[in-house]
Amino acid sequence: MGDTMLVNSKDMLLDAKKNKYAVPHFNINNLEWTRFILEECQRLNTPVILGVSEGALKYMGGAKTIVGMVKGLIDELFITIPVCLHIDHGQTFETCKRAIDAGFTSVMIDGSKYSLDENIKETQKVVEYAHARNVTVEAELGLIGGEEDGVANKLAFTNLKDCQYFLERVDVDSLAPALGSVHGLYKGEPNLDYETMKEINDNIAVPLVLHGGSGLDNEKITKAIACGISKININTDLQIAWSNAVREFLDNDKQVYDPRKVIKSGEQAMKKVIEEKVNIFSNKNR
Ligand code: 13P
Repeated sequence: MGDTMLVNSKDMLLDAKKNKYAVPHFNINNLEWTRFILEECQRLNTPVILGVSEGALKYMGGAKTIVGMVKGLIDELFITIPVCLHIDHGQTFETCKRAIDAGFTSVMIDGSKYSLDENIKETQKVVEYAHARNVTVEAELGLIGGEEDGVANKLAFTNLKDCQYFLERVDVDSLAPALGSVHGLYKGEPNLDYETMKEINDNIAVPLVLHGGSGLDNEKITKAIACGISKININTDLQIAWSNAVREFLDNDKQVYDPRKVIKSGEQAMKKVIEEKVNIFSNKNR
């Protein structure tokens, strides 16, 4: 297992940008989720980014535990697709540093709570540490709405001018511009600013990331990819598919108590959503 490779997101995202498709980012919550995602992405032969939020980081026992688990699964399941292990919405330099030291190959530093200049300063610190260790960095501009790890965020849109100002000062590898997407369930019809998305993509070289990919129908996803999105983050759609299947399983079997059977009962439902998303993201009909 010593030389099991995780890759950073650089090549996969640049290839996606060049060829107009999106790399899937799926958030992981435990060992089983990680296995289901790896197995299905291997079957579909797609590179994948495994996203770990700060909440999930704590839940799964910390960065070292997760790196060991992911590398172990890659080895034991004979996974050969490119796998990137990524911190999702890292809140501090310290979180990113610890993850990088443990073997994560990519981090997002979410400085969206700061002013633009403070965001630049915080992100720059992470970039220096990460790039010296071949780790890629994603940043957020504006504020992606919704709720994440129990924290509610009010959406704030960004624009091309701020993105250019930011990128002239910080050398990040991908950028998540807040353009109307929200984490978790959308209240009402999702309203993405595709025009600005395209304008930003046409004027900057860095691949763009769409957060809050759950709840967007195929048409919206395809349109976002056409406007230059190269990575799409999905968490809630998998959670809903898994929970619904497990709920049904438990309702139908009042005797079952084996946790392996319970957790596994959501496997096929999750894999089906993964397949659907990967097929849309791959933009095969382009
Ligand atoms: P969803 O839960 O809405 O899919 O958002 C996931 C995400 O953007 C993680 O950063």
